[in-house]
Amino acid sequence: MPNRTAALVDAFRNAYQAAPSGAVRAPGRVNLIGEHTDYNHGFCLPMAIQRDVRICWRRRDDDRVRVVSMEQQGVVEFALTTPIPHATDKASRWADYVKGCAQVLQDAGVNLKGCDLAITGDVPLGSGLSSSAALEVASMLAFLAAAGASLSNEEIAKLSQKAENTYVGTNCGILDQLSSACATEGQAMLMDCRTLRLTPAPLPSGVSVVIADTGKRRGLVDSAYNERRNQCEAGAKALGVLHLRDVTMHGLWQAVARGRLDATAKRRCEHVVAEDGRTIAAFACLRAGDAVAFGELMDQSHADLRDKFEVTCAELDGMVAIARALPGCLGSRMTGAGFGGCTVSLVRDEAVAAFVPELEKRYRAEFPTMTPAVYVTRAAAGAGALAL
Ligand code: GLA
Repeated sequence: MPNRTAALVDAFRNAYQAAPSGAVRAPGRVNLIGEHTDYNHGFCLPMAIQRDVRICWRRRDDDRVRVVSMEQQGVVEFALTTPIPHATDKASRWADYVKGCAQVLQDAGVNLKGCDLAITGDVPLGSGLSSSAALEVASMLAFLAAAGASLSNEEIAKLSQKAENTYVGTNCGILDQLSSACATEGQAMLMDCRTLRLTPAPLPSGVSVVIADTGKRRGLVDSAYNERRNQCEAGAKALGVLHLRDVTMHGLWQAVARGRLDATAKRRCEHVVAEDGRTIAAFACLRAGDAVAFGELMDQSHADLRDKFEVTCAELDGMVAIARALPGCLGSRMTGAGFGGCTVSLVRDEAVAAFVPELEKRYRAEFPTMTPAVYVTRAAAGAGALAL
């Protein structure tokens, strides 16, 4: 049994004086390209990472749920009545992701059973690697397992997104939850956020995916994120479509020429329309094994996120610029919602050993108040049961 799972089993035994019946895991994700496209019904190209949320569970004879986390203090307890009350104090707000899952599963007609849960996670919080989605998808799996029920991975992703939208109150798209629930080990995947179709594609041989956490946590992200969503929706409306997925660059420029979009809306829409095209092109690069062209598309994506979508910050731009100047780096960009968090870089295998410490060193020199973390990741499997 891997160490983290063994430690979690110990934590479960300590909290509940009994052995868990089962365990599940759900990974975080890194989006290689296709940013702020999911809620526009467009395309993304994520892969699951080797960091995850793990939950041990045991069914109870009543309708109560108890939750402990190895990274948080205290026990959160609630009954499976609906509506399930939200946290009343800041310290237990993390458990709202778990409660939200119980709520939407019940709303969807699943007959949940009371259970004891112990959780551990090593996806850094608020860093753009989908720690929330990993917690939601793992919670879904634990509740379903304890109830002896099952749902398809796609349904689990959709309900997890619903929990975040309706219970936690963050208006995210489907990218994070679908990546966590449905990823394939060793593969990136083209995600069509309209049909939810996933098409796996292997990373080119000879290159590694390097994640660099700027240490800057996203402040005020919800309001800025929602503002971007609203701007995209307003842009689509002005262009006469429901979603920007259905706009071509030609159509966009014609509308601009007719004065139908203001300068801000033009920039936002240009990013989304171009990013969809880049994402499909990047998928073709993966199929062709062309890591150099893939890297160029990553660079272009970052430039648009900085200049047109305006969701980067000094730390993200700095980390990307430093990475690009190092030997063996083929492309680099911010990943996730932006405003802080992580970058993702594509680096030639033979350069990785020098790239990782050098990126960290130069970033620390430029941003002395930040604590960066740089690590290589392979494409992990999507969520599922863990052997005990
Ligand atoms: C966050 C959201 C996703 C997606 C990305 C931006 O991670 O949760 O739904 O919109 O930002 O691509």
